[in-house]
Amino acid sequence: MTDYAELIKRIKELKREKNAIILGHNYMDYAVQLVSDFTGDSYDLAVKAMKTNADIIVFAGVYFMAEQAAALNQDKLVLSPDPKAGCTLSDALDVETLKKFKEEYPNAPVVLYINTSIYAKALADYIVTSSTAVKIVKALDSDIVLFGPDANLANYVEKKTGKKIIKVPPNGRCLVHASYVKQFVEMARKKYPNAVLMAHPESPLEILEAADFVGSTNQMIKFAKESKYKEFIVATEIGMLNALKLQVPDKVFYPLISTESCACARCPYMAMITLDKIKNSLENEVTKVIVPKDVAEKAKEAFERTMKLLEKLS
Ligand code: 13P
Ligand code: SF4
Repeated sequence: MTDYAELIKRIKELKREKNAIILGHNYMDYAVQLVSDFTGDSYDLAVKAMKTNADIIVFAGVYFMAEQAAALNQDKLVLSPDPKAGCTLSDALDVETLKKFKEEYPNAPVVLYINTSIYAKALADYIVTSSTAVKIVKALDSDIVLFGPDANLANYVEKKTGKKIIKVPPNGRCLVHASYVKQFVEMARKKYPNAVLMAHPESPLEILEAADFVGSTNQMIKFAKESKYKEFIVATEIGMLNALKLQVPDKVFYPLISTESCACARCPYMAMITLDKIKNSLENEVTKVIVPKDVAEKAKEAFERTMKLLEKLS
């Protein structure tokens, strides 16, 4: 049987010894969130990676997130506890497809969701997250925008900005959020009549239209903290309930759909990051995330351009 107290103690020792930090995504297991130095959404963690003085960053999240941290921190050692932790969105867009769309629409800015490989990001003008996509696209001096790889987020951005969004590819989807259907909302509303519904913008438009609040995982935490409501139905990956319970302990959270009712509730890739693998990662300094310098530089430029525009807009 795993001795979790011992495992957590060892991870903390290793962090001190090696001047390492753990960045944990909001979807991580409860115990992984407890050993993380920072938890957050993908934008927040990318910024944290840029600001840290640590020598080693262990990225407790899926691979594209670790890759992004490595690109932004060429002088640091970035470790992925399991590099096979992929993402259906990131897998949906390959560099060749992106190049073809760029050739077809040479004047359209390329806005990529952070859930992409670093090689695709190196070809982007802007890199957005669910918390910044609408703001950035609205601010661009173009009525037509190439946007990928999430088709649901693209639909949402199109609705919110009124611009023509060309989806690259036409049908990229997150395996969790794309499984949500209106019936899940009807069932949850019936079961929890006093709860308000928060939804992640990777969900289909019909879910977003039925929601009381739409936002990234960090924006959900902020909304729940500041809201006068006490109960919330959470339409995003079920690990999010860990972050909400830890950070908003005085309120009650229900999943839109449970893991018993639908395997789609939990992202199988996020679930691959465990305490054991984090300990192994720190102990043996594996798996090093290597991004070629020229690719990292180009992706970093797009990320910094986006940050600069966000600063201007705030
Ligand atoms: P956030 O940026 O909102 O944390 O979302 C990341 C993600 O992978 C959603 O499925
Ligand atoms: Fe990718 Fe969806 Fe998993 Fe997030 S929840 S990592 S978007 S597959």
